[in-house]
Amino acid sequence: MKNLVDASHKVLMRIASIDVHAMPYSEAVHLAQTLRTLLNAHNHRYHVLDAPVVADNEYDRLFRALERIEAQYPDLIAPDSPTHRTGAAPLDRFERVRHPTALLSLGKAFDEAELEAWYERCLRGLRGRFGEDARPQMTVEPKMDGLAVALTYERGKLVLGATRGDGAEGENITSNVRTIPSIPLSIPVLPVSAEDSGGVVPPDRMEVRGEIYIRNRDFEKLNETAAAAGDKLYANPRNAAAGSVRQLDPSITASRPLSFMAYGTGPVEGIEAPPEGQHALLARLRAYGFRVSEHVARSDSIGEVKSLYEAWRRKREELDYEIDGLVVKIDRFDWQEALGFVSNAPRWAVACKFPAKEATTVLNDIKVSVGRTGVIKPEAVLEPVPVAGVIVSSATLHNEEYIRDRDIRIGDRVIVKRAGDVIPQVVKPIEEVRSGRERKWEMPVHCPVCGSELRTLPDEVDSYCASIDCPAQFIRLVEHFASRGAMDIEGLGAKLAVTLVEEGLVGNLADIYVLVAEQLIALDLFAEKRADNLLEGIEASKKRPLGRLVFGLGIRHVGRATAELLVARYASLDALSRVGAEEIEQIEGVGEVIAKSVESWFAVEANRELIRRLRESGVNTERLPEEAPQGLEDSGRATGKTFVLTGTLPTLGRKEAATRIKQAGGRVVGSVSSNTDYVVAGENPGSKRERATELGIAILDENQLLALLDE
Ligand code: IVH
Repeated sequence: MKNLVDASHKVLMRIASIDVHAMPYSEAVHLAQTLRTLLNAHNHRYHVLDAPVVADNEYDRLFRALERIEAQYPDLIAPDSPTHRTGAAPLDRFERVRHPTALLSLGKAFDEAELEAWYERCLRGLRGRFGEDARPQMTVEPKMDGLAVALTYERGKLVLGATRGDGAEGENITSNVRTIPSIPLSIPVLPVSAEDSGGVVPPDRMEVRGEIYIRNRDFEKLNETAAAAGDKLYANPRNAAAGSVRQLDPSITASRPLSFMAYGTGPVEGIEAPPEGQHALLARLRAYGFRVSEHVARSDSIGEVKSLYEAWRRKREELDYEIDGLVVKIDRFDWQEALGFVSNAPRWAVACKFPAKEATTVLNDIKVSVGRTGVIKPEAVLEPVPVAGVIVSSATLHNEEYIRDRDIRIGDRVIVKRAGDVIPQVVKPIEEVRSGRERKWEMPVHCPVCGSELRTLPDEVDSYCASIDCPAQFIRLVEHFASRGAMDIEGLGAKLAVTLVEEGLVGNLADIYVLVAEQLIALDLFAEKRADNLLEGIEASKKRPLGRLVFGLGIRHVGRATAELLVARYASLDALSRVGAEEIEQIEGVGEVIAKSVESWFAVEANRELIRRLRESGVNTERLPEEAPQGLEDSGRATGKTFVLTGTLPTLGRKEAATRIKQAGGRVVGSVSSNTDYVVAGENPGSKRERATELGIAILDENQLLALLDE
């Protein structure tokens, strides 16, 4: 690897000063070969190992140098040149290709008992052949949920890419697979040095089998782009991968974020030291330069394999790609051969499937609910359907734009998805099965609970009810205020929040702190003991850290992390209530939208009154020592000082200046007041400088600032 870095930098220096046109042919031949090797190796590190060792712009410079040489000497263009991944012309149709040996499917196990039964069958077969103490090693791999393909390499060069098709015959997609960066055009990828290549020699001929897929994050981006362009959306990453691979124009495939993971081989000829089992084969494929799953396990205990299955069923969400199960394989190839095949599936492997995360059902209606900050959320009322082991009858539709982008209509058959603990969501309608009786939906104009007119803010997709008297909103707020991440009031959950508000006991958050036992017991649901417990919970919540209170107030856009940022800067609710948006915005991590939202929340008289009442009830409104910002006390020269930046600084940008001040322990605020220690003024400083002069505040230029910070 060090060789790769050194070699690249040497070549970068060299190409910085060469003139391609003046270069002798023999030198061009040599340099083109070196560049190709380096680019393939960097491509491999970036797309297969996720571990690049040069900067993007260095890669680009190497790439452009090769392009220039190839433009000057077209006969130097090799089929495996990294510059020629995307060059092929569009096709009229895909040619059919017959697979030399069929791409089989796998027998399935849907639970532990079926997995165990598969293992017992293997054991019986193996013990009959190899003796009673035969105990097979098993390889356990994630089952990639993508598109199966076969890639043929001749003397290390990619010559054919084919889809699985019906297993016997597929389609020739060579030009398309060439555009996928994690598919090596030649193997091994790394002949830069003996150390890097490990002396790997490619077989004379080999078919590599694996799965083309799209990572979840890439899929989301792809669909966002499609939605913005008004294009059709893909239902899931697998469909997106399949749709992208089966494009007649390779340049479209090239524009899609496809990846490839290898899990095996078809026919192989002329291979040195052939691997003796699946595990060794995967290691070999990795050495050739293929991406191979990093989650392959090996075990000779079916109990252990069952635990892996259970564990991955829960952990599948942690991966950035979709898996629909695990594949368990008997490791040794000679034992695989002994077990053989049944119809079109091997006896030596089994697909342990996970419950499907998606299902289709009918969207019976769309209703809206009011969230705690007044946001109106459209919700799908579904014909109940089991998804991943749970009956789903409602799902989120996010917002009006989501429904519009996907053209989701009432009465549609829709795809519903449930991933882990996430709320089920409607993915998209199946437009092909529409009857014509489906109805478009429109966002109501009035709040379904309080009837006041709904609003939308510019640049925001949500509609919301702006009425502070909206009971639905208030119930959600009480629930949020008492929730674990906020004031953590034991015993005050969603149900009780409804009762307290509907019975008129709580009409304002501060009312929570004046509840008495008699009132609670008078509500039928309360026994004396439970009332006492609740009151104890309320009492305990008075001592919560300030960050939790700020979060609990339900200020629009202020999540837990933002609340903590605010508290790190302002030591009390009082201090926070007095500052303007411009100053709040100076906090790193707090943007304009949040700052404005905080300012306008504190501007409402009823909210100020709420804070007064909370304080009077003994609720903590001061920052606790453990919430204080870390490490400021002992840091730089600007500790505790407040700065205002104005005008254009000659060399430092405003951002850079602010960062340096913060690093030295200072604060940067937006407006000049008597609390300001320094105003740093550049060119065209405007009124802030005047105000500083009026107030007698020290004015620094950039040099003076740097002197102050660095001294
Ligand atoms: S082995 C002879 N290993 O699952 C068995 N297949 O039903 C060859 N798949 O479409 C398949 N991940 O593309 C194997 N780690 C893995 C796999 C895997 C996904 C797909 C395969 C095929 C289907 C088999």
